[in-house]
Amino acid sequence: MSFASDDGATARQHHSTNQSMRDQKIESPPEIFSSAQLERWYPVESSIWALTSETPDQDVVQSIARTLLAQPRHLEPRFLYDERGSRLFEKISALPEYYLTRTEDAILEKEAKQVIARAEVECLVELGAGFSKKTVHLLKEQVRQRGGGTFVPIDVSLTALIESRDSVKEQFSQVGFHGLCARYEEGISSIEKNLPTLFVFLGSSVGNFNRSDFVRFFRLLSGCMGSNDLFLLGVDREKRVETLEKAYNDSEGITADFILNAFENINRVMGSNFDLAKMRYHSFYNLQWQQMEMYAVSTSDQKIHLPPLKSEFLWKEGEKILVEISRKFEPFQLQQHFQLIGLESIAHYTDPQEWYSLLLFKRQMKRSP
Ligand SMILES: C[S@@+](CC[C@H](N)C(=O)[O-])C[C@H]1O[C@@H](n2cnc3c(N)ncnc32)[C@H](O)[C@@H]1O
Repeated sequence: MSFASDDGATARQHHSTNQSMRDQKIESPPEIFSSAQLERWYPVESSIWALTSETPDQDVVQSIARTLLAQPRHLEPRFLYDERGSRLFEKISALPEYYLTRTEDAILEKEAKQVIARAEVECLVELGAGFSKKTVHLLKEQVRQRGGGTFVPIDVSLTALIESRDSVKEQFSQVGFHGLCARYEEGISSIEKNLPTLFVFLGSSVGNFNRSDFVRFFRLLSGCMGSNDLFLLGVDREKRVETLEKAYNDSEGITADFILNAFENINRVMGSNFDLAKMRYHSFYNLQWQQMEMYAVSTSDQKIHLPPLKSEFLWKEGEKILVEISRKFEPFQLQQHFQLIGLESIAHYTDPQEWYSLLLFKRQMKRSP
């Protein structure tokens, strides 16, 4: 499915109401797309593009079959971001316990000038951009140093892209906006390689990848980068367990709502029957794996029906479903991992407490034999 699970229902609605828009090609496709991929995208909203797809729900159904019917049961984090989930995440970002957003924002505000000076690009592609609130520091510098450019946020959440579009267009008339309502992989594979680009991945979303998905994903990203493109990555660092556990279990219970809301989203998309009154949130820091683990725990036996899969399973009392992980990193080790994937670190910015890092990478040149 092109615009994934979360805002799938909304996007599908837009899909049909905007069918005439697609047919008439009211908006001409922007030059951000490679010629091979151009035909796959249509405008789902003004300045926002989605993938055309013959079987829109296939990808969601396959994901659920692969994760919820597996042992141990888990989910892909993109299911957290329907309209309600996207708004809950914005609330989490402003919580005192959730140091990540304000720390990353402060580093970006301080270092955007340096980052943009190093990245001589026309285009900023942001993966999982959300409401793009922190990205404004980079866009501001892009306008100051280059007079303008193009901003391409990629996100499964149509709600977030619409808010991002309205805010970016209002603040930066010199910046072209083209949102891609799609999964990361679908978005980055469609970007024209000859367009000088800074890829940006903030919010420590890198921590949501498990170890094997990490390697697969960043190999793909590295392969999608042109030879002079750069990549800016925001990563949360290891710190006191108490600080970490508080950040993911706030006193107002917003994180708990956010995590359990994924099941509302799945019920809507899959027609399943998860009962939110029969589950609770549980999270802890796994020291061995250096990751926060966020679970939904069933508080009584419930038989879950998954109609599109013609399947059901018993979610037993006390059984956990892993909804999200958030890995914590040691930046120097991470730089070494990226080196193996073909990305060479060229700058490292951090905050005074060294709680968070922004790493800037370029593609390694292949040595001639
Ligand atoms: C943790 S939030 C970060 C938002 C923003 N970058 C920030 O730093 O505040 C993750 C964002 O990535 C999006 N997202 C999650 N999984 C995705 C996927 N597989 N493909 C595209 N977007 C995804 C979500 O909709 C959400 O907006």
